[in-house]
Order: sequence, then structure tokens, then C-alpha cells
Amino acid sequence: MSIRAVNLCHVYGQGTALEQYALKNINLEIGDGQFIGLIGHTGSGKSTLIQHFNGLLKATSGELFYNGENICAPGYDMKKLRSKVGLVFQYPEHQLFEVDVFSDVCFGPKNLGLSEEEIRERAEEALSLVGLDESYYKQSPFELSGGQKRRVAIAGVLAMHPEVLILDEPTAGLDPKGRDEILGEIEKLHREKNMTIILVSHSMEDVARYADRLIVMNHGEKMFDDTPRNVFRHYRELEAMGLAAPQVTYIVQALREQGIPIDDGLITVEEARDAILRLVGKEPAAGSRKVDAAEEREELAAEAGKKAPAKDGGNSPLSPDGAELTETAGKDEG
Ligand SMILES: Nc1ncnc2c1ncn2[C@@H]1O[C@H](COP(=O)(O)OP(=O)(O)OP(=O)(O)O)[C@@H](O)[C@H]1O
Ligand SMILES: [Mg+2]
Repeated sequence: MSIRAVNLCHVYGQGTALEQYALKNINLEIGDGQFIGLIGHTGSGKSTLIQHFNGLLKATSGELFYNGENICAPGYDMKKLRSKVGLVFQYPEHQLFEVDVFSDVCFGPKNLGLSEEEIRERAEEALSLVGLDESYYKQSPFELSGGQKRRVAIAGVLAMHPEVLILDEPTAGLDPKGRDEILGEIEKLHREKNMTIILVSHSMEDVARYADRLIVMNHGEKMFDDTPRNVFRHYRELEAMGLAAPQVTYIVQALREQGIPIDDGLITVEEARDAILRLVGKEPAAGSRKVDAAEEREELAAEAGKKAPAKDGGNSPLSPDGAELTETAGKDEG
């Protein structure tokens, strides 16, 4: 899988008084299995850009290639492109329209011409991936909460078995638990199914934690395209664009200004916690891994489950092995 944009431009209302340059000469390449955070001030062109990736918007000039094929070329199979590049809209209610949740998730696979059996299997699998059980199947998608609607919208896209999953602010308006759960599920799809993820977000904390590459938009232009660590080193420039670095970056800077020798590339709470512990002569207990809140909850629950029988007199071995903890450490190093 690869997406390549070459001098991509988009102008809304071209030739009218309302003409607006939303994208200016965007050049980028996205490879298989990346987890990309797309950030930028409001109106910077994020939603416009991602709608080009699945052919919903057509470039005013420039080109876009999917797996090396120009998607603007005559005869290009847009339907196939949309099944490979799944887009969850900024406002999920815009993509729900069936009478019940299950039919809504079946809509995409039905259009692929699959058998009834396969459509049902895909819908069940997708709904379970986003944590919606059978009690939701017959509910109207319009009677769900914002977070639940978003899960249905994500399931509808996952049921297409896309190669790329693009999510436009999937956590906007969710409570912290809902946010961690959705991001945890996305991270799991990335990790277990090697799905390419493009996450549009206004949360610097979220992109610092999950993405391994950040693309920063500013007034329709691509300003930075690098690892989160390197991008957040430019926090002053980001501030000038109406953005910021994760809050922990500012704590680290304040410590450095006081002459405390702490690495200036720390962007997650866990990394800063471990560095501060080392500075005061303590070894971080749980290892220097990047903690995924949803994963952590799962582990705690699993651990509680394993320990429970021990209380009843069993002699179950102590659980999670250190090997797994160190394996995930430093995922976005470099
Ligand atoms: N349908 C449209 N018609 C005309 N102009 C539009 C349309 N959609 C977006 N724009 C303009 O294009 C620019 C980029 O908009 P876009 O929605 O891509 O920004 P964004 O980065 O997604 O912002 P946000 O963070 O608020 O979602 C903005 O100036 C916006 O006003
Ligand atoms: Mg947007």
C-alpha cells in the first residue's frame, strides 16, 4: 500500500468570489503500516487533504497515486479505492443512515457484492472490534450517543477490510474513557493487523502517544513531516501556528531552564516520568514502555483475573512477564 501526493492543490469555489485555496502544493508519501498523526489549526486543510486520499474530493491541480496508479486518470476504479481507503468522517452522523446498527455496518460489504454469510460475518467482526455487542445490533444509529455513533461509523469502515484507516478527529467530544478505548482499539488494529492509520487530531497528547510520524498543516501547506519527537522540538513555531507541544514538553523545558539535565525530546507522560525517576536516582518500576491506557486496563483486568484464583488457595504463577514490557519500549524511538 502506498499513497503519494505530488504538488496536490485544492481550491474551493474556484473562479467565484468565495475562491479559497485549501491545499497548496502538497507533496508526501505514505507507506504501508505507518501510524500517522495529521495535525494543524482549524481550517488548515486536514479534512480537505484526507478526502483526496479516498477520492471524495478531486485535486484542482497536481496528482495523487494509490499503489502507483494515478487516481485521477480516466477509468480509475474509485469504488475499489474507497473500499481500500476507509474514511471515518469528522462528524460520524454524516455517514450513518440505515434503520439499525447492524444494517448500517452491512451496507459497505453489501456493495462489494459479497455473500449474505460473509456480509454477516464481517459486520459481526467489525462491531466486536469496536466493542459493540449484540444488544446494539437492532438499535437505530440515530438514538446512540456521539461516542457510540462513532464506533458504528468505524465498524462500517472496518467491515470493508480497508488497507488504510483514516479517522478525522475520532475522539472529539468523548469522555476520557471513551477516548482511550477508541484510540486503544485503533492502536490494536495497527499493531495486530498492520493497518495503515491516519489520525486527524487536535490532541497533541494523543498523537505523541500513538503516531510514529506527524504531518503538520498550516494554511493549506505542509509545514512539518517527521517523527513526533522531532516535530515537537519546534514547539515555538507550532505555537505561532496556533498549535502547541504536549504539555509534558513544557514541563521538561522548564526543568531544563532550571539547569536540570533532562532530555528535551520527551513527549509522553510516561517518558518524562521515567526520566525524572532516573534523575532522582530511582529505576522506573514498570519499565520504560509507552503505556497505552486501554491496553494497561486490559492487562490489569487480566492480571486481576489471574490473581483471583490464587486468593482461593491456588498457587498461580505471577503474571505479566518482563519480556513483553521491554518489547514495546521505545516504539517511536528515533
Ligand atoms: N465545502 C467547502 N466549501 C468551501 N470552503 C471550504 C469547504 N470545506 C472547507 N473549506 C475551507 O477550506 C479550508 C480548509 O478546511 P478543512 O475543513 O480542510 O480544515 P481542517 O483543517 O479540517 O479544519 P478543522 O480542524 O476545523 O476540522 C478552510 O478555510 C475552510 O473554510
Ligand atoms: Mg476538519
